[in-house]
Amino acid sequence: MSAPSAWRRPRFRVRTRCRSSVTGRLVAAASPSVVTETGVTDFDEEALGAAYERGLKAEKSDDVEAAAEAYRECLRLDPADHVGATIRLAGLGLVEPPASVGHAYVSTLFDQHAETFDDILVRQLHYRVPEMVGAVLRRDGRRYANVLDLGCGTGLTGAEIEDLVDHLTGVDLSEEMVRVSDERAVYDRLFVAEAVDFLRRHEPGTVFDLIVATDVVPYLGALEPFLSGLYDRLEGGGRAIFSTETMSDEALAGRPYAVGRDQRFHHGESYLRNALLAQGFDVDHFEEIVVRLQEGKPAPGHLVMVSKPV
Ligand SMILES: C[S@@+](CC[C@H](N)C(=O)[O-])C[C@H]1O[C@@H](n2cnc3c(N)ncnc32)[C@H](O)[C@@H]1O
Repeated sequence: MSAPSAWRRPRFRVRTRCRSSVTGRLVAAASPSVVTETGVTDFDEEALGAAYERGLKAEKSDDVEAAAEAYRECLRLDPADHVGATIRLAGLGLVEPPASVGHAYVSTLFDQHAETFDDILVRQLHYRVPEMVGAVLRRDGRRYANVLDLGCGTGLTGAEIEDLVDHLTGVDLSEEMVRVSDERAVYDRLFVAEAVDFLRRHEPGTVFDLIVATDVVPYLGALEPFLSGLYDRLEGGGRAIFSTETMSDEALAGRPYAVGRDQRFHHGESYLRNALLAQGFDVDHFEEIVVRLQEGKPAPGHLVMVSKPV
């Protein structure tokens, strides 16, 4: 999913609880402590919109200096960064890669695309990672009692693995994505929260026997906090399965990961393998995949399944 072509104000602020107008089910955090605030929305929208448009136009015509000036102006107007100026600056190689794509940006982006997400990703961009996860999990016929889907989006992966699972919890930064997930009616609980925050701060003592995260890692930079969160939230023998995006060694040029011009993180295979081993995981499956099409070309990535030793 690429950045919005025009800036639109988020339609709401993050709330601690809400009910789906369709099913009436609770779709936000039962524990407000894990609701991730994505920053105030009190800024000069018109000026932000104009600066953002200026940046996009300059970037299109390869005027990096003008793009940088415009994105820096966006950050002055809106330090919470709902338009993703920081990740754009990183994609242009002008700042160090941040810890993540940015929470305010992710929730804004996916709130705006929630209704069209399935059509764009699955039909137009041939996104198949949820089916790939289903196929890998089905290989040994194991069932899972308590499953967490991080960055659950509209629930494509939940729907794919529903029959293997007794209890399914979904978490996503975007309240609109969570609302669509809720309408799919495959999750027992849904939370609006940031994935790594949730792993750290969700009800102490709750562990899962499977954690999935499909097409979420490209929104995270250094993976150590995510991997250690996964490890701590898995019971012994529990599994985690997730997808990444990657780029060629030549493009990575010795870096562990890099931000692409698509404003996502691309993680190198050796960095990922080393980080998994350093965390103490056993690697059960590591496969090169095509995540989806990106500007008509296959977007390469990895599908990884690990387990926590008993
Ligand atoms: C490309 S979508 C994938 C959705 C779903 N997992 C699937 O495979 O269809 C990425 C999702 O991850 C969510 N997301 C990205 N970064 C996140 C983070 N740090 N914490 C929680 N959700 C995040 C986005 O809001 C979005 O719904």
